[in-house]
Amino acid sequence: MASDTQVLGSYGAESQKEFSPSEPCVMLIFGASGDLTKRLLVPALYNLACDGLLSPNFAVLGTAFDSLTTESFRARMNEDIKKFHTRQEFDQKIWDNLISRFHYVQGGFADMAVYETLKTEVAKLDTEYKIGGNVLFYFATAPKFFGLICDNLHTSGFKAGSGWKRIIVEKPFGTDLESALKLNSEVLANWNENQIYRVDHYLGKETVQNLLAFRFSNGLYEPLWNKNYIDNIQFNVSEEVDVGDRAGYYDSSGVLRDMMQNHMFQMLAYLCMEVPGSFASDAIRNEKAKLLQAVRAYTPAEVAKNVVRGQYGPQLDDKGVVIKKGYRQEKDVPADSKTETYAAARFHIDNWRWEGVPIYLRSGKALWKRGTEIVVQFKKAPQVLFRGTKIDRVGANRLIFHIQPIQGIEMQFNAKIPGPMLQLQPVHMRFAYGEAFKASRYTGYEVMIYSCSHGDATLFSRGDLVEAAWRVAQPLMDYWKVTPANFPNYARGSWGPKEAADLIAHDGRRWFEVVTEDVLKKVALFKDGDPLFLSQVIMALRPKLVNAGEQIIKKGSMGREMYVLVRGEVEVQDDAGHVMKTLKDGDFFGEIGVLMSKARTAHVVAKTSCDLFVLDKSDFSRIMRDHPQFKDSVLAIAKDRYNLTIEAEHLTTPH
Ligand code: BG6
Repeated sequence: MASDTQVLGSYGAESQKEFSPSEPCVMLIFGASGDLTKRLLVPALYNLACDGLLSPNFAVLGTAFDSLTTESFRARMNEDIKKFHTRQEFDQKIWDNLISRFHYVQGGFADMAVYETLKTEVAKLDTEYKIGGNVLFYFATAPKFFGLICDNLHTSGFKAGSGWKRIIVEKPFGTDLESALKLNSEVLANWNENQIYRVDHYLGKETVQNLLAFRFSNGLYEPLWNKNYIDNIQFNVSEEVDVGDRAGYYDSSGVLRDMMQNHMFQMLAYLCMEVPGSFASDAIRNEKAKLLQAVRAYTPAEVAKNVVRGQYGPQLDDKGVVIKKGYRQEKDVPADSKTETYAAARFHIDNWRWEGVPIYLRSGKALWKRGTEIVVQFKKAPQVLFRGTKIDRVGANRLIFHIQPIQGIEMQFNAKIPGPMLQLQPVHMRFAYGEAFKASRYTGYEVMIYSCSHGDATLFSRGDLVEAAWRVAQPLMDYWKVTPANFPNYARGSWGPKEAADLIAHDGRRWFEVVTEDVLKKVALFKDGDPLFLSQVIMALRPKLVNAGEQIIKKGSMGREMYVLVRGEVEVQDDAGHVMKTLKDGDFFGEIGVLMSKARTAHVVAKTSCDLFVLDKSDFSRIMRDHPQFKDSVLAIAKDRYNLTIEAEHLTTPH
């Protein structure tokens, strides 16, 4: 994303330079031979060490069932770090120092004798590294072990002695309301809430943390942050990846448990909570809990009305041949699985601030693009002001938080198109993280480990918060359990099931789709496009809805636009109505229309109702006029990829 942002100095930067490193501790990792340790925890420790933020009084003690020794554990990590570190350059010296502090004890989590060995080892490391008694227990294990390890740590006397003792537990924290309540009672049986740090890795993302910084450090937006000015809010987490080899876990989870109940509800809480009295951890967590408690828990009839689910089917080619498998054909997935890989919901927050403002959430796997964004849509200006002009539609202002892979913030507003007539076009102001701050790419776990060592629980979920989130999710799971699912209902690689579009269309609204540069680059015309050029094209795209049977392009007519097919199917037909090709979600057509005025060579008819984006030649020409530096490359593409020889001035004429 191209940025228009300049960093104008910073507040807090001075103290940042003097940031103290993490507090001394032994980090005792349960499940140390697993995926999380090598992929995220160790690279995060290495990043902290590189940035001078890891205490020199620090050691890792790994434990797991796998029969490793300290030597073989280190050897394995030496290999893994090469694959998983996130730095531009690898600093061997820092790594060697870090890995020399790694140790390993083999054993099962139920075996009390192992805890005795661990205690002796922790005591040894404590003396060797002058730690002072602090122990950070990291549960990188399946949740079924959380309660057991808590009990055994307590029984074997780990709580005693000087220094702090803190426990980080990984997700998922429960699989429904009942199991979450049980887990909380097990974990809290012998430990205090302020010793338990429940991870949600979304809270470690800079762009998610920035939601709070943005809301509460800018005087401009907070007065508008309510039902008087905001029309609706949309949270979108699209994943291009499918279930991969995780079906063993995923099939008993589904997107509601995997993404919504945790990651998305956390973002929802940050965006919609009341202003906390301070940035102190419990001040923030109190407001988050209050917000989640105010989200309406649905009756079965309300679930039916406000929530839809989906499961991806195979991706087919034109002739109906399977190109890629559907969910039910994936490894370890039952052939009649009812697990949802997609969900979309309309939620209501029953408090004064948000009464009547619909909050839409959607997330799914095997979709057309990867992208997480939050769209705050403000109420529109009155259309009536423009009566007597050619303006038949005034777009809403939108504030878009791009969480990933684009990282930034965008404000959309309407501006007059230069020229003698009054014409409006949505334009935007953008801030891109990567350009404003030259930070290293973090895994998200650095800040978790760092803040836990300092006893700062802001980025971790509290027991009551987790329970509040399950209270909202539970009625959906209960309803789905007893209601037949019409699966599969979206094709892999599409923009999701039609039911999701209908859900929001019912309110007279649409999902705001963020077309990313990656998506646009799938069109030959834009494949190697410069970021500025692509961002201009993205802004010029206008949404259009057509009904099934409607003709979109007429053969012989002069082409003056191109189309992005967001949702639905269109047929490319000859004069006799024979279907030459069927296009689906994510396909493009009519590109030549923006390059030159040329008679269309086929009809294009909507087979289903369709959601389209249209790029007009007039807009494309304007972009060419405003940015003549792109003309040569566009002419070359027209020649190479479409075999068109175009006069340069033709590119800049609107007709
Ligand atoms: C995990 C889920 O918690 O989050 C995965 O279990 C999902 O299914 C992942 O893919 C998404 O995380 P990110 O950071 O890639 O958005």
